[in-house]
Amino acid sequence: MSNMKKQYTENQKLSELVCANYNLLSVMSRFGLSLGFGEQTVRMACEKQHVDTYTFLAIANYMEKRTSFDEASDDSPERAISLETLIFYLQQAHIYFLDFNLPTIRRKLLDALDYSQSELAFLILKFYDEYVNEVRKHMAYEDKVVFKYVSSLLKGEKPENYHIGIFEEKHDQIAEKLSDLKSIITKYYPSHANIHQINSVLFDIYSCENDLNLHCDVEDNIFVPLVKKLEKELESEPEKRMQIVKNILHPNASNVSKGATTEATDEQYTLSEREKEIVSCVAKGYTNKEMADKLFISAHTVITHRRNIARKLQIHSPAGLTIYAIVNKLVEIQEIR
Ligand SMILES: [Fe+2]
Ligand SMILES: [Fe+2]
Repeated sequence: MSNMKKQYTENQKLSELVCANYNLLSVMSRFGLSLGFGEQTVRMACEKQHVDTYTFLAIANYMEKRTSFDEASDDSPERAISLETLIFYLQQAHIYFLDFNLPTIRRKLLDALDYSQSELAFLILKFYDEYVNEVRKHMAYEDKVVFKYVSSLLKGEKPENYHIGIFEEKHDQIAEKLSDLKSIITKYYPSHANIHQINSVLFDIYSCENDLNLHCDVEDNIFVPLVKKLEKELESEPEKRMQIVKNILHPNASNVSKGATTEATDEQYTLSEREKEIVSCVAKGYTNKEMADKLFISAHTVITHRRNIARKLQIHSPAGLTIYAIVNKLVEIQEIR
């Protein structure tokens, strides 16, 4: 699939879009575009199902080349994303992740784990469940606070005690822990049986991670800038409040290039003896201060070690490091907690 300057348009057939990128199937369903669209074009299908065509295309195109928006959309007045449609899309995505995707992965994980090592299986599941709880909280905050706030804005009301900057500041990437899990299973899980099942759950985790990253990017680079613009409009022209339902898009799509790949050398990824000690302390539940005291180093040095460990292993959370420590025999399972 070539990514060269691909830009979906309203006169293309919906089926062509799906052929070009099957990941669009999930985008379509979140917009409420159901299957069975036959030979309909994007615009026909959207109009028939009351979906804002431009908003759908904006997301579909953003998905292809995450950074295209800022350059492309400057001065065409008809280019307007509907915030209502966008919020609907984001809410549907939340439902998809929480009620379908994450539970499915859990079920597959449950089937794939090797119960001859039951403690390890238990820890991995516990790690996963804690992660899902975090995602649940993250999304509940967006549903109950952020989207509600924007709905008020869309009605022309500006709540005093909130602004989108608060969300922007605290909004974090929720896929990071999933990437921890992926690292643990791919690199360290001693799988003797169930290899096909393990692979299948890994595929799901990879695709869920991509999907979550896209979701967060849409929130950061499309949703937040639109809301900011709306806030500004409400402040500057209060008499026009009731009219403002749609906004011209000027997102600040920042091109964050993640994970620049460098040549791998063994040393870069192998833990030093001191780092192994730190990992084992993390697994035993020590705080940074306690580790510093035990190892006769400064807390600052502990933090530097932890940063290096995260970089080398691609595991960032204490729970993930605990699993790593067990698998690599840096601690005994009884020593934990
Ligand atoms: Fe979200
Ligand atoms: Fe989010």
